[in-house]
Amino acid sequence: MTTPTVPVVAHTRDELKAAREALPSRDVAVVMTMGALHDGHARLIRAARQRHDHVVVTIFLNPLQFGPKEDLSRYPRTFDADMEICTDAGVDVVFAPTPDVVYPDGDPGVRVSAGPLGDLLEGKARPGHFDGVLTVVGKLLHLTAARSAYFGQKDAQQMLLIRRMVRDLDFPVDVVSVPTVREADGLAMSSRNTYLTASDREVALCLSRALRAGGEAAVFGPSAVRRAAREVLVEEPLALVDYLVLVHPETLADVPEWYRGEALLAVAAKIGTTRLIDNTPLVVGPGGGAIDVFTDVPHARADV
Ligand code: PAJ
Repeated sequence: MTTPTVPVVAHTRDELKAAREALPSRDVAVVMTMGALHDGHARLIRAARQRHDHVVVTIFLNPLQFGPKEDLSRYPRTFDADMEICTDAGVDVVFAPTPDVVYPDGDPGVRVSAGPLGDLLEGKARPGHFDGVLTVVGKLLHLTAARSAYFGQKDAQQMLLIRRMVRDLDFPVDVVSVPTVREADGLAMSSRNTYLTASDREVALCLSRALRAGGEAAVFGPSAVRRAAREVLVEEPLALVDYLVLVHPETLADVPEWYRGEALLAVAAKIGTTRLIDNTPLVVGPGGGAIDVFTDVPHARADV
């Protein structure tokens, strides 16, 4: 067995440029992360690795997307373990800049605006969050000059907004979405799961249970989906639900009762001190149910 090659680590823009130019092929995909990597991130990297000659991973805890009362200072920082995951997954380059490299003039005066979709759901709870996300994603797309960028369905609203930014602002990049990776008991993997106590973790399982129950009711229409999911959540009073919605996947508007077709069932709740989100794409109506598939990948393999 050959030992996997350790990725080149770039901390500065010049180092990234040099590492990028040293790659034999221009077919580069990027996987953007805030570090504290887990199997969800690894799946994104593997999906990118299978389809492209090279993979660049960015590890950057972006201050611009955290509110003043959010968890920036306690967010887990696990660089050595992250490098092991990147090495095993066959990453070519890791770009791990500090904020002054990404924002040399301090907080940028000009930013990408997420627009009205950025004010819904997560944006309502976290004002300005998506402007911060899109601004850094735009910058990292320019800096890495990647042809394709892989993001997780776990952050469905983020994915939607990145797609909108790429389309609305003509970024020359393909955006690929990868299904949510879960623990064996259904909990969606998240860097924030490390904040959960053992009992919080038990409580947190109600999120994926609610989504599953909603998926099972999808054939009966929107109100059945919402009712089935809500019934699971009310059984768990320690989960402080922020929202549970069944929305159109493109507009994030609540789907009306007559609606049949693709929808997104999404939930956010505070458990202990930790805010968690989860979602599942669904088909509502005859033959419907929860769906978990790659999108925009014509010959997607089911095993990545
Ligand atoms: P982060 O939370 O580190 O997530 C990085 C990428 O991993 C995102 O595309 C996210 O959707 C994906 N991801 C996280 N958990 C996942 C899971 N369980 N299954 C599949 N994919 C998963 O999202 C961010 O960072 C930041 O907002 C970023 C895009 C890097 C901009 O700062």
